[in-house]
Amino acid sequence: MAHIPPHIVDEIMQTARIEEVIGDFVNLKRAGSNLKGLSPFTDEKTASFIVSPGKQIFKCFSTSKGGTVVTFIMEKEHFSYPEALRWLANRYGITIPEDRPLTPEELAVISERESLHIINEFARDHFANNIKNTDEGKKIGMSYFIERGFRPEIIEKFQLGYSINKGDDFTKAALEKGYKKEYLEKVGITKTKDDRSFDFFRGRVMFPIHSVSGRILGFGGRTLITDKKVAKYFNSPESMIYNKSEILYGLHFSKGDIIKYDQCFLCEGYTDVISMYQAGVQNVVASSGTSLTKEQIRLVKRYTKNITILYDGDAAGIKASFRGIDLILQEGMNVKVVLFPDGEDPDSYSKSVSTSELEEYIKVNTKDFISFKVDLLLENADNDPIKRAGLIKDIVASVSLIPDQITRNVYMQSIAQRFDMSEQVLSNELIKRRSDHIAKEAKATEIRNRPKPAPAETPDKPSSPDSPSGAIEDPYAFEPSPFEDEPIIDTPTITKEDHNEHDLMRILILYGPMAITHQQFNEKGDEEEIETSIAELICHELHIDELTFNHPTFAKIHGIITDSIAENILLKSSYFKRLEDQKIVQFITEIELNQHELSRNWVSKYNIRTKSEQDKLKHAVMGSIYAFKISKVEQRILEIQQELTDKGPKLNSEQLMDLLSEQVALENVKKAISKKLGRIIMR
Ligand code: CTP
Ligand code: MN
Repeated sequence: MAHIPPHIVDEIMQTARIEEVIGDFVNLKRAGSNLKGLSPFTDEKTASFIVSPGKQIFKCFSTSKGGTVVTFIMEKEHFSYPEALRWLANRYGITIPEDRPLTPEELAVISERESLHIINEFARDHFANNIKNTDEGKKIGMSYFIERGFRPEIIEKFQLGYSINKGDDFTKAALEKGYKKEYLEKVGITKTKDDRSFDFFRGRVMFPIHSVSGRILGFGGRTLITDKKVAKYFNSPESMIYNKSEILYGLHFSKGDIIKYDQCFLCEGYTDVISMYQAGVQNVVASSGTSLTKEQIRLVKRYTKNITILYDGDAAGIKASFRGIDLILQEGMNVKVVLFPDGEDPDSYSKSVSTSELEEYIKVNTKDFISFKVDLLLENADNDPIKRAGLIKDIVASVSLIPDQITRNVYMQSIAQRFDMSEQVLSNELIKRRSDHIAKEAKATEIRNRPKPAPAETPDKPSSPDSPSGAIEDPYAFEPSPFEDEPIIDTPTITKEDHNEHDLMRILILYGPMAITHQQFNEKGDEEEIETSIAELICHELHIDELTFNHPTFAKIHGIITDSIAENILLKSSYFKRLEDQKIVQFITEIELNQHELSRNWVSKYNIRTKSEQDKLKHAVMGSIYAFKISKVEQRILEIQQELTDKGPKLNSEQLMDLLSEQVALENVKKAISKKLGRIIMR
């Protein structure tokens, strides 16, 4: 994906209003100069989520997440940094110019993809209009959904619709609107035979299929006729924008709750998702239309590592669960299973009981995958030793798919206990299975890495038939790639030792560009008064004593500031809030939030009573530099003392002398700096 130029990043950050964006996710109420609401990251009952429109930052006190509008979108949607920027650009109508001109082929693909999205969205609106505003749609489509127990607001939310049972109702409307027939055919809504075009979906209730970010990729259309010869569902064909194996139905609506509950329910059909959602269990998706794929599992993995399979209790459902379990384990995720009573699926069951009964049923009937397999297979195995052995092998085979060794061991222990077997025997079986997998993987890698034969003789690609080769990325699509690790933004924890680093960094960020006068010795050795920026002063002071920051985030900021000073650029704190590194953004947010504390701390801690603000600031700066230096010296003294106690007896006299004299020298340095610090404080 093309790099986003810095001036566009600036434009996005200046245009986007954090209170507007967050306002779409959180109900914010005014609280002084800030806005306050319930954290979207937890289930809290009292509001601890603060947005500052003035500073354009947010802070969640229950999860300690914080940052800019970009941080928020990254956290909430699990987007990468460029994905979050593109999302915001889209929302505020900012065009991101590509950093190189696109080739005509690329341009054609992009505009084609975009066209296909637009056509699908037109179709969605057309079908939704049918169900609400046409006689046929109301009488047939709407009454079907109502009869099935879907409430109007859920029909609205999932954008359900109806396709008129007439040859070309949709196609005609789309052509009249000016959409190219070629594109209508590409998304599969229009079929053409002998120069006659007609609708693919006719007289069916329509389920639009959303991308993670809410664009329409295709449709499922359910017939209302009960005739074995008519396929229950018609689905949009695969297209440039619709890759069935990489889509999960409902994820667009459920991802928030999946993150919130750190858990995802997986069912089979469109109606299961909608009914569960309506019943209040909203962290739910379906693999609709395809058997579960590893790409779909990786999609879930961006949001949670915990999947619970909710399938029918019939034979087909059980078989599908077995397959699902192995695939999920293989992706290094945790899998549990809930079976519904025979003949019931999540859709029918969720409608037959209340929300609390549904939740209770799920709670009571959730089984870890081993218990699930054991219970089911034991039903048939009785006491037949051969069947029993087969069952144990089957379960070990599943465990062998888990990539993490420790997790495997935990499961092996539980199997050993359950079947009262020695772990040794089981582990032999496990090792056998593992070496099979490793051999298989090695072979697959070899095939992937084999030099490509000349194009003329290329056979069908053996390795990845599902990845659209050569397709360029769509700058309009904001779907997170399932193959990227999710952005992990953890809070920098400030330990006590870091305190002085933190304090100096805070001054560097908040006051760096401000001018300050101070005494410095010139080359002749005379003291003279010079004016510099605070950033230059701090960097100079650290440079002469060869000191750096230990904290990696601080060290990085220090590096950026040092580089910019070399180019005569003074960076303001707002600059750092635009960086990709969200640890830096979080730190800046933290100090901006506590900005008022700087002077208060100094006043109370060192009892400074100065005349002017400028003086006060100067003292704060010098004080902070000296405190920083002293703590570095103290650290080194501690290291020396440690070395003396640890290795003292083993050191020869020369080494001992070196250490001791360094210690003495450092003590003197410390005294000298303390004196300077003392002068500042006393004045
Ligand atoms: N499916 C399909 N084509 C079919 C049957 C099923 O694509 N002919 C897919 C659909 O995505 C469907 C899912 O498989 O949602 C599960 O099938 P099923 O349980 O039969 O459908 P439900 O969604 O449960 O529909 P309903 O409750 O209306 O029977
Ligand atoms: Mn069903």
